[in-house]
Amino acid sequence: MNETAIARADDEPVLVRPSRESDIEAMLRIYRHHVRNGVPRDVEGTGAPEPDDLRDRRKNLKQTRLPHLVASYRGEVIGYAYAVLFRKRPAYRYTAKHSIYVHHGHLGRGVGRLLLQELIDACAAAGFRQMIGYIDADNAPSLALHEKFAFARVGLLCGVAYRHGGWSDTVMVQRSLGAGVSAPPPIAAPGR
Ligand SMILES: CC(C)(COP(=O)(O)OP(=O)(O)OC[C@H]1O[C@@H](n2cnc3c(N)ncnc32)[C@H](O)[C@@H]1OP(=O)(O)O)[C@@H](O)C(=O)NCCC(=O)NCCS
Repeated sequence: MNETAIARADDEPVLVRPSRESDIEAMLRIYRHHVRNGVPRDVEGTGAPEPDDLRDRRKNLKQTRLPHLVASYRGEVIGYAYAVLFRKRPAYRYTAKHSIYVHHGHLGRGVGRLLLQELIDACAAAGFRQMIGYIDADNAPSLALHEKFAFARVGLLCGVAYRHGGWSDTVMVQRSLGAGVSAPPPIAAPGR
C-alpha cells in the first residue's frame, strides 16, 4: 500500500501506512490511555494487550493480507486501525471486524476519518464483502464516525460488559464492501 496523506493546519501531512514492528509501543500507549480513561471500555474484555499480543496479531494479519495501519504525524504514530477476521470458521472468510484508535492529543482533527477510509479501501481491495464493528453504546464519537462511513446499526447487545462499576451495552455496526451480497464471492478467498 502507498502512503496517503492529509494536510494539517500547519501544513505537515498526516500519513497513513502499514504498521511496522517498531510502531507497537506507540500503539499500546494510545490504546492504554483510552482504556484507562473510559471509552472504549475494552469491549473485547481482554484488558490492555501486551506487546507480544499486538506483535502476534500483526504477524498473523500480514499473512492474511488484512490491513494493519498507522497514522503518523511528524514521524510519531498518532493513530492506528486494523481488521481481523470476523470469525475464524471458513464460512465467515469474507467478513472483517475492525478497530480504530486515535491518540488523545490528536482527536477531532480528521485522523479517524483518514484511517477508517483507508481501512475500508484496504478491506475492499483484499476481497472482503462485509465489515463489522462493536462500539460501546455511549461512545458517541465512534458511533458518529461510523455513521459517516455508512455503517448501519444492526444490533444492540445489552449489558454485555461490566466494568467501572456498571453494566454497559454494545452497538454492532456493519457496512458492505464492493459487490456486497449482490454477487457471489471470487474463487480465491481474502488472504488465501
Ligand atoms: C472514534 C475516534 C477514532 C474518532 O477519531 P477522530 O480522529 O477524533 O475523528 P475525526 O476527527 O476524524 O472525526 C470524524 C467524524 O467522527 C465524528 N466525531 C469525531 N469526534 C467526535 C465527537 N467528539 N463527538 C461527536 N462526533 C465526533 C464526527 O462525525 C466527525 O466528522 P466531522 O468532523 O465531519 O463532524 C476517536 O474518538 C478515538 O480514537 N476514540 C477512542 C477510541 C475509540 O473509541 N475507538 C473506537 C472503538 S469502537
